[in-house]
Amino acid sequence: MKILSIESSCDETAAAVVENGRIVLSSVVDSQVEEHKKFGGVVPEIASRRHVENIVAVVRQALADAALDLEQVDGIAVTAAPGLIGAVLVGVNFAKGLAFAQGKPLIPVHHLRGHVAANYITHPDLAPPFLCLVVSGGHSHIALVRDYTHFEVIGRTRDDAAGEAFDKAARSIGLGYPGGVAMDKISHQGNPHAYPLPTPHTEGPFDYSFSGLKTAVINLSHNAAQKGQALVPEDMAASFCNQVAQILWQKFETAADYTGQTRLAIAGGVSANSWLRSLALEQSKKRGFQLYLPELSLCGDNAAMIGAQGYYEFLAGHTAGMSLNGRPYMELGDAF
Ligand code: KG4
Ligand code: ZN
Repeated sequence: MKILSIESSCDETAAAVVENGRIVLSSVVDSQVEEHKKFGGVVPEIASRRHVENIVAVVRQALADAALDLEQVDGIAVTAAPGLIGAVLVGVNFAKGLAFAQGKPLIPVHHLRGHVAANYITHPDLAPPFLCLVVSGGHSHIALVRDYTHFEVIGRTRDDAAGEAFDKAARSIGLGYPGGVAMDKISHQGNPHAYPLPTPHTEGPFDYSFSGLKTAVINLSHNAAQKGQALVPEDMAASFCNQVAQILWQKFETAADYTGQTRLAIAGGVSANSWLRSLALEQSKKRGFQLYLPELSLCGDNAAMIGAQGYYEFLAGHTAGMSLNGRPYMELGDAF
C-alpha cells in the first residue's frame, strides 16, 4: 500500500510517499526556519501562509520523486493534531481535497505517533510493544507503545518540553532560533561540568520538569552580566546538554524497569541530540536494553513518519470522512 502523506503542523511543509509503513519512496521537507529566525521563534500566522504557498509544490515534488501519479497512491495521510492550528488546517484541508477528488481513504495521524513511527522506517525489525521517549519542541512523554495504534502515556513534562527548554536556554546564551541544534553543535567544544545546573524534582516517578533548568541558565546569564562578565556559550551548552540528557535518560530507565520493557525507542526533534543519543547507547549497552533511535534525517518534522504511522492507522480502520477537523491539542492515546 502506497500512502501519500502530508505534514504541516509547525514550520515545515512536508510530503512523502511511503510503502507499507516502512519503505520511503520519497520525502520532501520544505523548512521555513530562515523566515522565522528573525523573530526568534515560529510566528504562527506566517507559518500558515507559507504552508498555503508551498504545499502544492511540495506534494507535487513528493509524487514526482516517487515516480507516481496521484491516481496511483492508495491513501492520503495527514497530521491532524496536535500543532499550530492554522498550520495544521492547511495540511488537513489540502489532504481532504485530494482524498475527495481521488476517492482515496483519508487517514488522520497524530503528530507524535508519527515521530514514534520514524523508528519503523529506520528499524525494519521494530514492532510494538516497546517503551518510547517522545521528546519534541512541544512535548516530553514517556509512552508505552502497546500496539501500533495503542499508546499509554506513563510520564510527561509538568511544564516546559525538553525542546522548548533547549530553545529558550539557547536564546539566553545568544544562540539564535532554533536553539537545540546550535547548542548541540557548540557543546562539543565545552566543559559539561563548568556550570552547576539543578536536577528538578517531580512528584510523578516518570514525570519531567524543565522550567527550573531553563530559569537556572537565564539566572546564571543575568548574574554574569551584572558582574560585567559573560557565560562561555560552549561550556553552558555542554553543561545544559549533559544535564538534560541525564534527566531524560534517568526517568526513562526507571520507567523501563517499572514496566519491564527492555526494548526502548526515542523519538522527536530532541532525539537528534548527540548527548542524549550517546548516553542512551552507552547505558543501554550496560543494562542490556535494545535501543532504537531514528536516523538523524527523521528526528525532526517530516512527512515520511506520518506515512509510516498512517499505514498502521489505516490497517486499524482509523480513516476519516470529510468532516475531519484539525486540533491544536490531542492526547497521544486518543482516537480521531
Ligand atoms: O519534533 P520537532 O522537530 O518539532 C516538534 O514537533 O516540536 O522538535 C523540535 C525541537 C526544537 O525545540 C529543537 O530545538 C529540538 O527539537 N532539537 C534539538 C536538536 N535538534 C532539534 N534539541 C537538542 N539537540 C538537537 N540536536
Ligand atoms: Zn514534531
